[in-house]
Amino acid sequence: MLTPIDYPISLDFDAENGTFEPCPQVTPRHLSDLKEMFSDQSTVAQILRENDPLIYEIRYYPFTTTKSDMALAVTRIFPGTIGNEFYMTKGHKHQREDQPEVYYCVRGEGFLLLDTLEGEFRAIPWRAGVITHIPPMWAHRVVNTGNDLLVFIGVFHLSAGHDYDIVARKGFAYRVLSRNGKPELIKQD
Ligand SMILES: [Fe+2]
Repeated sequence: MLTPIDYPISLDFDAENGTFEPCPQVTPRHLSDLKEMFSDQSTVAQILRENDPLIYEIRYYPFTTTKSDMALAVTRIFPGTIGNEFYMTKGHKHQREDQPEVYYCVRGEGFLLLDTLEGEFRAIPWRAGVITHIPPMWAHRVVNTGNDLLVFIGVFHLSAGHDYDIVARKGFAYRVLSRNGKPELIKQD
């Protein structure tokens, strides 16, 4: 908990790099952290025998005050593929059923995938400048289909909670695969 004398908090954001200061927490996500999310499991195993590439990184800032409050997450997804599947975030649903989020694509291109995991799916084409509201109860995942860094900002409530297991169990309805160098949405069985 912060005392009122610490308010307000301002961060110095570098939109090119997708970093900010001060930054109390950086969470790296290597391939081993989301290996079950990719479709080509033999390629996953083959890569992991040799190295464990960094797929994306999240920088958190929890705006913790004496009241219920919000949090900021800035994610940098590196360019690349695992087999034919573009680098992406693990994807999650919020644990609390009443918690939405706002995502802002600062740099790069790709897709924001939204899925209720109960039959409703949307793929939002994403590029720098797009702001998308994620309604409560929609799982969300970002896919980098470009040749460069994709940076996005997420603003959510500290109490939202992150359920990654439900995505691992059910999967998104579509995957974003590279076909002749171009992204294509492929329906999952
Ligand atoms: Fe979220």
